[in-house]
Amino acid sequence: MPDAPASPEHGSPQPPRIHNSLLVFSGKGGVGKTTVAVNIALGLALEGKRVGLLDVDIHGPNAAHMLGADALAVTVTEGRLVPPTGVANIKVMSMAYLLPDADAPVVWRGPVKGKVIEQLIKEADWGELDWLVIDSPPGTGDEPLSVAQLLPGTFGIVVTTPQAVALMDARKAIAFANLLKVRLLGLVENMSGLDCPHCGKAIDLFPVGAAEKLAREMLVPFLSRIPLDPRVVSGGDSGRPILTESPDSEAARAFRAIVARLLEAAN
Ligand SMILES: Nc1ncnc2c1ncn2[C@@H]1O[C@H](COP(=O)(O)OP(=O)(O)OP(=O)(O)O)[C@@H](O)[C@H]1O
Ligand SMILES: [Mg+2]
Ligand SMILES: [Zn+2]
Repeated sequence: MPDAPASPEHGSPQPPRIHNSLLVFSGKGGVGKTTVAVNIALGLALEGKRVGLLDVDIHGPNAAHMLGADALAVTVTEGRLVPPTGVANIKVMSMAYLLPDADAPVVWRGPVKGKVIEQLIKEADWGELDWLVIDSPPGTGDEPLSVAQLLPGTFGIVVTTPQAVALMDARKAIAFANLLKVRLLGLVENMSGLDCPHCGKAIDLFPVGAAEKLAREMLVPFLSRIPLDPRVVSGGDSGRPILTESPDSEAARAFRAIVARLLEAAN
């Protein structure tokens, strides 16, 4: 079990110059949060924004991998962690960089996680950022809670898939945002629809329209629908996100639309 990173020894940390932050979270696991976080971070960077990507999925960090940034390394300057810079000048910080090897589990209770997340947000040397995009683990536990408390006024996006069980959990995530005063930009329905790769016809794999209905019911904007696309998987696995690998895909278009919405909402 790795130790928590040591506190900086030199004076108080500089106030973070993080102008906007976006918490990407969900009720259910595996719905595509990391995929959404990585593509949005990349989209913001391609719009010329100074972007950081922080993975607070302490037990299963894979945002760095999906951005093709897992070979990078954190450095320490004057007792502060410095996130390495990856593709499109995105500064990346992840638990993955702080573990001794890729298979090492992190066995920490909530308060320790909160402390580590506080250090990664407040004490790491992010420089000046227009956007800090935060990828969280599923559910409404310690990690998104810490982020919401450490970054008051943060924007948020809830990711869901169209199945009823995912939507049931998405309701909890929306309620969490309301409780914690996360500025919810809306609900994203991922893995929404599939076009047959052979004939192009739509295959109704999942129920249609339920996420939109949920958004209406819970008075949150319905942000976007991202279709199932094997190129999303290969983009994530290879660390080359679909946004830049297949910019003409419907998924890439959906990500660009979310980015445009973020830019409108920015402080
Ligand atoms: N629209 C999509 N089409 C096809 N595959 C997708 C799509 N979105 C995500 N995936 C794939 O589904 C898997 C899970 O996605 P991802 O890791 O982003 O989910 P997650 O919500 O971050 O999971 P976790 O809850 O474990 O953190 C990945 O292999 C990813 O490539
Ligand atoms: Mg994830
Ligand atoms: Zn077909």
